[in-house]
Amino acid sequence: MKKVVVSLGGSVLIPSLPEHRLAAYASVLRRIAGHAALSVVVGGGGEARKYIAAARDLGLDEAFADEIGIMVTRLNAMLLAGALGDAAYPVVATSQAEACAYGASGKIVVMGGITPAQTTDAVAAVLAERSGAALMVNLTSVDGIYTADPRTDPAARRLERLTPAELREIVGTGSLRAGANMVIDMVAARVIERSGIPLLVIDGRDPLHLERALLTGKYQGSLVSEGGRDPLPIA
Ligand code: UTP
Repeated sequence: MKKVVVSLGGSVLIPSLPEHRLAAYASVLRRIAGHAALSVVVGGGGEARKYIAAARDLGLDEAFADEIGIMVTRLNAMLLAGALGDAAYPVVATSQAEACAYGASGKIVVMGGITPAQTTDAVAAVLAERSGAALMVNLTSVDGIYTADPRTDPAARRLERLTPAELREIVGTGSLRAGANMVIDMVAARVIERSGIPLLVIDGRDPLHLERALLTGKYQGSLVSEGGRDPLPIA
């Protein structure tokens, strides 16, 4: 089975605790696990932003706020591992080495953040590289990579296909504050570029989008790959 690393945005999985999609994602991931070896890196979502805002209010530095964010991503990851039950490795990985080791169990590996000054997208990109994944999928709350922020710029255009170098150029304009909301961060973009692993960016607000993309190759989003390579469908 091919390996797939999924960066599951916290804003998609747990926008806030009362309105999470844990059960829906658990069912979809369990079904996909029959066709691909999955690792899922979970983001912090709205709860992480609240904790980060509280840390800033206290005058704490950005690296401290990042550490708080990492803890929330791990809490979210633990909830997902619980929702997956037997299908998941029962311990949330806290390093790339652990994630690779847990992957040998054949179960779905779940993890959150690792180190300050990056996001879980970077964690996922490095894990894709470390584990020799065939594909990384970024599940976020927009349906792909745009030429500008579609929420603020009406002229923004979705790019269906782009190269890793083009991705890096687009991402190059973003900021790196704790909790910053970008489709993908610079560290992730650079790792995607050097590893040559294709990246699919799709709207994760409906968990079925992931299943359809991986199993049928049908999606609305952006595919980042060198030379137009298309790894989909994955099964
Ligand atoms: P993410 O930025 O990855 O989660 O982590 P998110 O914002 O919920 O993801 P999206 O927007 O849905 O895609 C939350 C925060 O945790 C810290 C950062 O401050 C980040 O903004 N973090 C996370 C780290 O510092 N290092 C990590 O490895 C992961």
